[in-house]
Amino acid sequence: MRKKIVAGNWKMNCTLPEAESLVEEILGFRLDLSPEKEVVLAVPFTYLTQVQKSIQNVPRFHLGAQNCHHEKFGAFTGEISATMLTSVGTEYVIIGHSERRQYFQESNSLLGSKVNMAIQSGLQPIFCVGESLQIRQMEQQMDWVERQLRESLFCLEEDHIRQVVIAYEPVWAIGTGLTASNSQAQTMHRHIRNLIEIQYGKRLSENISILYGGSCKPSNAPELFACEDVDGGLIGGASLIGADFASIINSL
Ligand code: PGA
Repeated sequence: MRKKIVAGNWKMNCTLPEAESLVEEILGFRLDLSPEKEVVLAVPFTYLTQVQKSIQNVPRFHLGAQNCHHEKFGAFTGEISATMLTSVGTEYVIIGHSERRQYFQESNSLLGSKVNMAIQSGLQPIFCVGESLQIRQMEQQMDWVERQLRESLFCLEEDHIRQVVIAYEPVWAIGTGLTASNSQAQTMHRHIRNLIEIQYGKRLSENISILYGGSCKPSNAPELFACEDVDGGLIGGASLIGADFASIINSL
């Protein structure tokens, strides 16, 4: 049985007091947390320790980061390693978000090294793929996403790819209010699962969680989550509003 996951990607938002009250607010709602569900809070590095303290005794809540370096340690001023993340209780790390690809020039091959390092260090990567509007208009989204998967993930051994969660985030839907339709999301999620099946076999492909991200909110989450191959969501803007995030968790 694959896991169902709602992950909040806070991006570069919140001060420490705001982070603390957001977590408190989310935990104050009545949350439907059945055993197959997981909630991940992917918070800025500076709040990992604090948020860890707030959620450590809350079942099904897990700590996430938004990036890590691809080397183990060393002279990389300003960077954070995967081992540093696990040492403060982090379990998940977002890798390959389109904002990292776009603003920090992170390539498929660099992202493959990050995924590798994350897994070796005991983190579960949430690996993001997705096409720009231009690519979709040229109807090349299937090939685009296939290339992202091949160049970053498909060199992993079976035991390692098992640790990966994939997030399909069409770039044109991130922070724009535009959402992929249910059928656009389902078609891409099916495509991703098929590619994993061809590479690693059916059993493994059925066990990988594939999340949808891109303007996911309380009004569209139930329909998106009802799609056969959508196993949850990676939530940006709506994860910063306690009531909205709680409602999205409850619609999974
Ligand atoms: P959004 O962001 O929900 O604000 O569109 C999603 C993401 O960037 O992960």
